[in-house]
Amino acid sequence: MERQFRRALVTGGAGFIGSHLVRALLDHGLEVTVLDDLSSGRRESVDARARFQHGDVRDPTDASAALAGVDCVFHLAAKVTIRGSFEHAYVDSDVNLMGTLNLLRRLPKEGIGQFTFASSMGVYGDAPAPLPIPESHSQQPISPYGVGKLAAERMCGLLLDQAKIPFTALRYFNTFGPGQAFTPYVGVITIFIHRLLRGEPITIFGNGEQCRDFVHVSDIVEGTVASLHGEPGVYNLGTGRATSLNTLASLLVRRIRPDARIEHQPEHPGELRYSVAEIAAAEKALGYRPSKSLETSIDGVIEAIRRESA
Ligand SMILES: NC(=O)c1ccc[n+]([C@@H]2O[C@H](COP(=O)([O-])OP(=O)(O)OC[C@H]3O[C@@H](n4cnc5c(N)ncnc54)[C@H](O)[C@@H]3O)[C@@H](O)[C@H]2O)c1
Repeated sequence: MERQFRRALVTGGAGFIGSHLVRALLDHGLEVTVLDDLSSGRRESVDARARFQHGDVRDPTDASAALAGVDCVFHLAAKVTIRGSFEHAYVDSDVNLMGTLNLLRRLPKEGIGQFTFASSMGVYGDAPAPLPIPESHSQQPISPYGVGKLAAERMCGLLLDQAKIPFTALRYFNTFGPGQAFTPYVGVITIFIHRLLRGEPITIFGNGEQCRDFVHVSDIVEGTVASLHGEPGVYNLGTGRATSLNTLASLLVRRIRPDARIEHQPEHPGELRYSVAEIAAAEKALGYRPSKSLETSIDGVIEAIRRESA
């Protein structure tokens, strides 16, 4: 029998992916509470139909208040940066791992029918070629961010199994779309578009032949909502298609500013060479079917960022 849900908690619901997810859950008829400390999220990104609680996932009182009365949890709150996690390993792990544990220990004994965790392609070790990697691929993360995400994912798996709460971990690949905050660290597509619109050169770290799986935020959100009714488990959410940074850079330069300069700098530690998702498991268990390609959806994203930064 299909499980029915009425009230969701979305941690990190003021962030890039979280704010899109909140809207989708509301549109599906759920009541939604958002717990977010606004450290990178924005209050105005939260749909007015949601209940907003300003608070920290590490704080016992904030977590208990946010969890009161909900029957499903989407845990997205995190410090989201691979490169920055070397500099801020302590704080990032505190939020990403201890924040998750705090939420787990505050879960009501009864009434939670699904717990979905936003994991990351950062849990994987590098791949030898730009071929899609399955969930069984070597989990030897090469950044503190990846280590923290893997540890949090495993903690959820163990403790939720013991509590008999259905658990799904979704390993998101490189997500792009409107609404991502512009920082020097996160979201190469967002960074390139902002810089090109400002008339600045763009920088590729390394030779640019490293490959990513760029997935539109609307596909990520659909896969995440589907975890409410799909088979619990650990799944990649991407597209299965590889795009090199050189290809991405020329695509954006062509569309935004054909005379822009592309600079190269030495690669950073912690960045994978090949990160492309095998998505067969999510297709089968969640009915996940990513429908947007980079080429067909990028113009909409460029326009959205142009409007946001005007
Ligand atoms: N964007 C991607 O490409 C990508 C890829 C893989 C995984 N993910 C995961 O998806 C989730 C959402 O990422 P995003 O891209 O939307 O990032 P984001 O930074 O936009 O969202 C994270 C949200 O968490 C909030 N937050 C941070 N620390 C908090 C704390 N201590 N208490 C409460 N709220 C806190 C922030 O204010 C923000 O609103 C994260 O868990 C991230 O690790 C993202």
